[in-house]
Parts: sequence; structure tokens; C-alpha cells
Amino acid sequence: MKHPTISLPRLIGHRGLSSQAPENSLSAVRAAHQAGIDWVELDIQLLGDGTPVIWHDLDVSRCSDGRGSLRRYDWSQACTLDTGSWFGDHFSGERMASLEAMLALVVKLDMGINLELKVNKGRDPIALVKSVLPRLMQVLSPQRLIVSSFNQVALAHARQYADASQLALGALFGSVPGDWHYQCQAMDAFSVHVHWPRLKRPQAQAIAQAGYPLICYTVNDPSAFAPRWGWGVTSVISDDPTRFKIPIT
Ligand code: G3P
Ligand code: MG
Repeated sequence: MKHPTISLPRLIGHRGLSSQAPENSLSAVRAAHQAGIDWVELDIQLLGDGTPVIWHDLDVSRCSDGRGSLRRYDWSQACTLDTGSWFGDHFSGERMASLEAMLALVVKLDMGINLELKVNKGRDPIALVKSVLPRLMQVLSPQRLIVSSFNQVALAHARQYADASQLALGALFGSVPGDWHYQCQAMDAFSVHVHWPRLKRPQAQAIAQAGYPLICYTVNDPSAFAPRWGWGVTSVISDDPTRFKIPIT
């Protein structure tokens, strides 16, 4: 199966450069760019009014001065939240990033994104895909986008918007399941994304031998991870890629 020609870097920023700026914010993406990181992983969900926003948690408490479930907010309310002060005074006044604002920034900086369709408990994967996929494909070139998810329904629905030559899908796993290859073939996956402490060497080798880029998350201990590069790992997603003593791209 033909895929977009994606030149994956060894190191990808997790939620932007989330060690140095509030996760999933415009500042975190700018910080990644300034550090020489070309690709970032970001999470996307819908607000209560259907606005797509770059956000990880089910609620807003951890990463803003607000309280309650993300879906209780519409865009005008979400815009009033301070999403930076929790991280540091320097980021006071940071606002939640809409998909539109994030896409504009990523295009301006000529970066690539691994957008994770974050289907938290009780949320509708189809509504998320319907809202996000058309706009993503309109704005980003296929060489600059990987859409991933833990949610199989979301990935299967995303595939309906474009075939494998136009849209790279990432199969996202905690542990690699026994039927990983079947799942990847069913969705014409481009890449396999795995929680690195649970990855076993034979699994890594099988994934690499089958021709899938293998992306490990979230790797913040370069020394502990080091032997795994030899297992066929393509890239790591890290809160702080600058810790790695390997070329960033
Ligand atoms: O996409 C890799 C990683 O981000 C998945 O876990 O919870 O950090 O979104 P989480
Ligand atoms: Mg994520």
C-alpha cells in the first residue's frame, strides 16, 4: 500500500514541547520550533458547542484556572480560561488553542503534526472525526500529518475520508495486542505507536519488519530507552526531546 512520503524525525515533541511550555498550547509548539523540533504530537477534542480544540484531559481543571468537564464549555467560555498560569507565570494569559489557530501556526512554521484523536470516556468518536478530518486534510499536506488514536472507531471512520496514499493513520497502543497486524491492515495504517515500557523486542522487530514506522511514547529517559533504538524504533515522542544526545531531525 502506498503511503504519503513522510520523513519522520527521530524526535517528536509530546503535546508540543511540554517540558518548557503549557502542553498542547500555541506556546508549546512555538517552543518546539525554537528548539529545532519539526514534528509535534497534539491531542484534539470537541467543546460542548462542537469547536475542535487542542486539549488532552476530560476536564479543564489540571491545565487551566477553570473547573469541570471540557464539554460544559462553548468556545466563548473556553476563551476566558487562563491555560498558562498553572505552568508558570510567564505563560499567564495563554488561551486554549482552537484547531484553526493551531493549524495556522503549524503551517506558518512548516511543521508536521501527529494529531491524536482523543476520545475520552463518554465522548463520540464519529462526531470528532467528522468535525476534524475535512479541515485537517484541506489545510495540511499529507507529508506533514499523521492522525492517530487509541479508538478504533475513530480511526476506521477517519479512513473513510481518504485512502492510505493521502492520509497517514497511526495505530496507537498501550501494549501491542496479539492482533496488531490485523488491526493495522484493516485500517491501512502508516505507523504503529506504542507505550515504550511495555514494548517487547520481538514485537518491535515484527512491526519494523512488516514495514511500519515504530513510534514510542512518552520517552523522557534517554538512557533507559537507548537499547530500544536497535530494536527498529523509528521515532520517539518526548516531553523534552532536547534531552536526547542524538540529532533532533
Ligand atoms: O500519542 C501518544 C501519547 O500522547 C498517548 O498518550 O495520554 O499522552 O495522549 P497521551
Ligand atoms: Mg496524546
